[in-house]
Amino acid sequence: MNDETKKQINQRYERQLDKGERFWPDTIFKDLIMSLAIFTLLILLATFIGIPAEPKADPSDTSYIPRPEWYFLFLFKFLALYGQLPIIGKIEWLATVLIPGIAIGVLTLLPFIEKNPNRYYGKRILPISIMTIMVTGIILLTLMSEVPTVAEDGSKLLGTLQTLVGIFIPLTAYILFFAFKSNTRLMLWTTSLAVVSMILISGTVLALAPEKQAEETEVATTLVDQIFAGQDLYSIHCTECHGDDGSVAVIQGVEGLEGEKITPINSRDVLYTITDSAMYEVIAYGRPNAGMPPFGKTYGGELSRSEIDYINVFMRYMWDDRFEIPAEALKPLFPPLATGEVPSYDVHIQPIVKRYCISCHRAGKENNNYLMTTYEEILFTGDNAANNIIAGDEGSYFLQVIQEHAIMNPEKPEEELIGVMPPNRALKPNIVDVFFRWIMNGMPQTAAEAQALSPTPVP
Ligand code: HEC
Ligand code: HEC
Repeated sequence: MNDETKKQINQRYERQLDKGERFWPDTIFKDLIMSLAIFTLLILLATFIGIPAEPKADPSDTSYIPRPEWYFLFLFKFLALYGQLPIIGKIEWLATVLIPGIAIGVLTLLPFIEKNPNRYYGKRILPISIMTIMVTGIILLTLMSEVPTVAEDGSKLLGTLQTLVGIFIPLTAYILFFAFKSNTRLMLWTTSLAVVSMILISGTVLALAPEKQAEETEVATTLVDQIFAGQDLYSIHCTECHGDDGSVAVIQGVEGLEGEKITPINSRDVLYTITDSAMYEVIAYGRPNAGMPPFGKTYGGELSRSEIDYINVFMRYMWDDRFEIPAEALKPLFPPLATGEVPSYDVHIQPIVKRYCISCHRAGKENNNYLMTTYEEILFTGDNAANNIIAGDEGSYFLQVIQEHAIMNPEKPEEELIGVMPPNRALKPNIVDVFFRWIMNGMPQTAAEAQALSPTPVP
């Protein structure tokens, strides 16, 4: 700083003093107002928008992979890459303490090491280069944090490319900087080459990375959401044996358990004697001796701790008379149909099928080949696909079995080809009516298609 600038700054300070603006209390007051505003904004955001809670922690879940917040992901990735290095990869404190320590130390000390008085960036190539490479590295490592370091098939390609970006290129660049110390041209070339190659290689890594399966469990925060989530999970996993309303007393249509007597789980007997934590255990561990499989992830099942909790919440609020179900949770399964109105797959059939049929009619069930998870599957799968659903035909097997008429085997008339559906409990007449209208009118998929088939309502 030369004397001229010093004088200018002092003059400006005097002018401000004359105006009467003081650090204390004027500036501090402004700062306080600003921080108060930001604080209020945060409170409002937290109150009205908020961040949904994560699924409940499950201490017994061994498949849980802890991950840091996004702003630490680059460090997380760096450690993973470093761990792959031969020999020094084993010395953990080098990567966890020493290297980040040195990096932060260098950044802090940079103004003292590089005492160049110039403010013009063209004359401050060294600090700018160091910073550019470090920031590029941090951004790229964050972007690549989802890409596995060690590929599942054992291939080393992705891991090696990531190590180039995260470790070798920056390291080489830094070494070159010190070799070129006084040559700014070479330094600029090194920085540009390093940054471009880092970006290109990470681009390749991201392009080659295996598609990540979306496996996010929805987290239900409100009671109503939990009841709905529990209802859906129950419909898929439990209806098969216990029926859509838990009332099944004799299991039917289930491989290996045909005719087994069970206690209806919507009874007071069960609900009053099994506490919430015991219920968690029953669902997680199942009743292996009686034929109920374990559902908890800990015991090899498919459900997480929160999912089992939602099922419990659903059963309590639906069936346990000590709980009062919130009115919003009682919304009808499908909108009621007007006289002559034709239902559609999207609006009517799908929710009904999900509630009453999917449990047995989905992939992985060995006693039947009829899948009902999509529109096409409902129309075209099954051993009797040709006769199941015939537009406009009351004799369609589908319509027969849901009206409690079993289909007999044409070759052996005393043997059932298809039993009544659902095997454990007759459908309510209004639901049979929806299926009936749907098939008799040619199985429209969308609401618009159904609308086109419905008579125009008389005003
Ligand atoms: C493959 C058939 C099957 C499935 C699927 C099934 N259960 Fe069970 N469940 C049984 C059998 C069998 C029993 C034993 C009944 C008995 O002893 O009275 C049982 C018992 C129970 C009991 C009562 C335990 C007791 O000691 O009285 C509850 C509660 C229960 N199941 C809930 C569920 C829930 C919730 C699901 C879905 C996550 C489910 N079950 C899925 C077959 C099944
Ligand atoms: C408890 C399990 C269970 C439930 C719930 C269930 N089904 Fe089935 N379904 C079966 C089994 C098992 C078969 C194989 C035939 C048999 O054993 O009767 C079958 C066969 C069928 C078939 C004949 C498929 C073919 O091509 O052979 C139709 C149609 C059918 N079910 C419709 C339904 C409908 C509609 C629902 C829901 C309203 C439903 N099922 C609910 C177990 C079930």
